[in-house]
Amino acid sequence: MSVLEVEGGRRLTGEIDIQGAKNSSLPILAATLLSGEKQIIHNCPQLSDVDAAVKILEYLGCTVKREEHTLEIDPGSVSRWDIPEDLMREMRSSIVFLGAILARMGKALLSMPGGCELGPRPIDLHLDALRKLGVTIEDEHGYLQCKAEDGLHSAKVILAFPSVGATENILLASVLAKGTTVISNAAQEPEIIDLADFLNRCGAKVRGAGKSTIVIDGVERLHAAEHAVIPDRIVAATYLCCGAITGGELLLKHVNPNDLESMIPFFEEMGATISAGHHSVYLKAPSVLKSVRSIRTMPYPGFPTDAQAPFMSVLTVANGSSMFVENIFENRYKHVPELCRMGADIKVEGRVCVVNGISRLTGAVVRAEDLRGGAALIVAGLKAQGKTVIRNIHHIDRGYEKIEDSIMQIGGMIRRMEE
Ligand code: UD1
Repeated sequence: MSVLEVEGGRRLTGEIDIQGAKNSSLPILAATLLSGEKQIIHNCPQLSDVDAAVKILEYLGCTVKREEHTLEIDPGSVSRWDIPEDLMREMRSSIVFLGAILARMGKALLSMPGGCELGPRPIDLHLDALRKLGVTIEDEHGYLQCKAEDGLHSAKVILAFPSVGATENILLASVLAKGTTVISNAAQEPEIIDLADFLNRCGAKVRGAGKSTIVIDGVERLHAAEHAVIPDRIVAATYLCCGAITGGELLLKHVNPNDLESMIPFFEEMGATISAGHHSVYLKAPSVLKSVRSIRTMPYPGFPTDAQAPFMSVLTVANGSSMFVENIFENRYKHVPELCRMGADIKVEGRVCVVNGISRLTGAVVRAEDLRGGAALIVAGLKAQGKTVIRNIHHIDRGYEKIEDSIMQIGGMIRRMEE
């Protein structure tokens, strides 16, 4: 089994190019199913989750060619409408293929996505919305049997919670549906805008993406298009955390600073200097950071739940106490016991977590329990005295492209080893 070994104590300085966003790439890859024509997607990160999405496209009948970060997808011969259980299990977000398969084939057969490391993660909002668009859904022996016998039609969908995945599924299912669909209380994440931009390039008529009401005028067909995925704001935030915890000085390139707006003030509160350029962000951190009052995760434009864990690592060594409130997922503090193994002083009570800053973390053998929690252990390891060995790193590889190369490039000491 591969592990990452991090040797702490070095100040990180230099420049990093930020990869394309995983959470944009996945729905956009699903969207390539919607036309019969070739689609070209640039800036697609090389990650195991993207590989899983490609396997699904190929299974369904697409031809996929990859050159570095560009994928060329030919969906001309799609002939299947099911996703086998092993592919569904490989990536929970494969549920985002449901809307696209239904729109293309009029039916879909998917195994229920299993539970997940972040808590139950139900899909009721996805299914209720698809029913409104004319889909009948039966849940049989762990499989979802979905049919739109008379084709998909438009609907007014009000989401009880602005779910990212549900908003994406509704977009994918409605762009080819008859009539005008309106999504109220839609998710407003930059990844939703990116998906809508790609769909519009293909000839779809989506208005309002990035706001809470999205209007989709159904069109007859979509055509070939070329699109570049937006930069990954969570990867950018993770590297800023690496810079902050080591008292470093970093320039992130190929980022959208606007997408980081909810996080930037916290680096300032910690005492770092941070400024945004056109497509770049500069950070310079002091050797001792200050605590922050409270970080509450919220749907966009609030503070992202995906950045909670890396920020927590940084605050374990800040001067004073910081509070976190996790409002999006029930079970997103699995990194806490691992950080405590490294000496951190953290108390969890339900959704609230209090981090009392200490002067020194110490290296330990720890386990990545999920993607962002795993990245947080790297952040902590960069500051800890001695060596930190991180196990279960397949979680980290789902979302960070060659993370050890990027960190080495800015002066960190980290290597992948076989244990
Ligand atoms: C996406 C992101 C994930 C991020 C999350 C929140 C992808 C591939 N993943 O996940 O990295 O952490 O947004 O920003 O883009 N919920 C329901 N019923 C549903 C759907 C969701 O109750 O039908 C609940 C979930 O359990 C969770 C909350 O809503 O508590 C947010 O989920 P959602 O926004 O759907 O997240 P994902 O799309 O799964």
